[in-house]
Amino acid sequence: DWSMANFIERSVEDIRKFVGKEHVVLGLSGGVDSSVAAALIHKAIGDQLTCVFVDNGLLRLHEREQVELLFRENFSMDLRVESQADLFLDRLKGIEDPEEKRKKIGNAFVEVFEMAIKKIGDVTFLAQGTLYPDVIESVSIDGNPAALIKSHHNVGGLPEKMRLKLLEPLRNLFKDEVRLLGRELGLPKDVLWRQPFPGPGLGVRVLGEVKEEYLEILRRADAILQEEMVTADFYYKVWQSFCVFLPVRTVGVMGDERTYDYVVALRIVESADAMTADWARMPHDLIRKISNRIINEVDGVNRVVLDVSSKPPSTIEWE
Ligand code: XMP
Repeated sequence: DWSMANFIERSVEDIRKFVGKEHVVLGLSGGVDSSVAAALIHKAIGDQLTCVFVDNGLLRLHEREQVELLFRENFSMDLRVESQADLFLDRLKGIEDPEEKRKKIGNAFVEVFEMAIKKIGDVTFLAQGTLYPDVIESVSIDGNPAALIKSHHNVGGLPEKMRLKLLEPLRNLFKDEVRLLGRELGLPKDVLWRQPFPGPGLGVRVLGEVKEEYLEILRRADAILQEEMVTADFYYKVWQSFCVFLPVRTVGVMGDERTYDYVVALRIVESADAMTADWARMPHDLIRKISNRIINEVDGVNRVVLDVSSKPPSTIEWE
């Protein structure tokens, strides 16, 4: 695409001029925005960019490995992984309230990120994948007011506190333009078109208190759901599809045995902007397959339920 190639050329020049010989740090989540920002900035300044990926222990199955493979192996970026699952789980101990959990996770993230920057040393710029809709502070693309998004997505207050200058090369772009840019930069479809995933991750999909045992069950169930959605060619057609862990046990039978295990809910929604959403009418055979596989393959689950609520009044996430 001619105009996109042009945009890249101009951006690369601008970034080089703006950054000079200084060092840039970027918090890479693996989502569309930060991934495209990373690829663009890396194209411009190579090893003057360091990416930090925080493993908060609330990620999906193999999520961290996929980020490492793509950015470290394929793009040869300087990627630092902060493995801090224990710290996050520790902060979440005993916390049941959803907003309280978000706050704990957000604060822990800032703390870990700050530590990572100190380890890198001489950093002048903080890069962020801020898009135009985030800039105009109205309603963000994933349906939460920009003010709310900010408290979860961005490391609010950090730039001033650490005397960092902001580098936001996507701030004039919309989401669809960012996807085109990403494609031109060589990012794969599964990164550019992946479904939205909340900053607090599985932390708000394990209802109530977050425990490692619950996270493990959720990760395995969710991986089965995603795998079947991709195979049936529905993953990219719905807005989001994910599992929710319910810390409730129900009775079942397995052979001659009585079981008393947890419940997993399937949440699959259609939406244009996450402001409103409707539960997706999936083929019953697909739902049956997903349910059977989760119950048979995931220890600790003996019941799967389907969420048939629309937004409003229900939200997409359960917390
Ligand atoms: P709800 O549950 O409010 O979600 O209908 C709307 C969209 O926002 C995502 N979401 C979040 N994203 N941090 C985020 O970055 C959060 O705390 C958060 N909560 C919800 C949700 O996945 C959906 O796409």
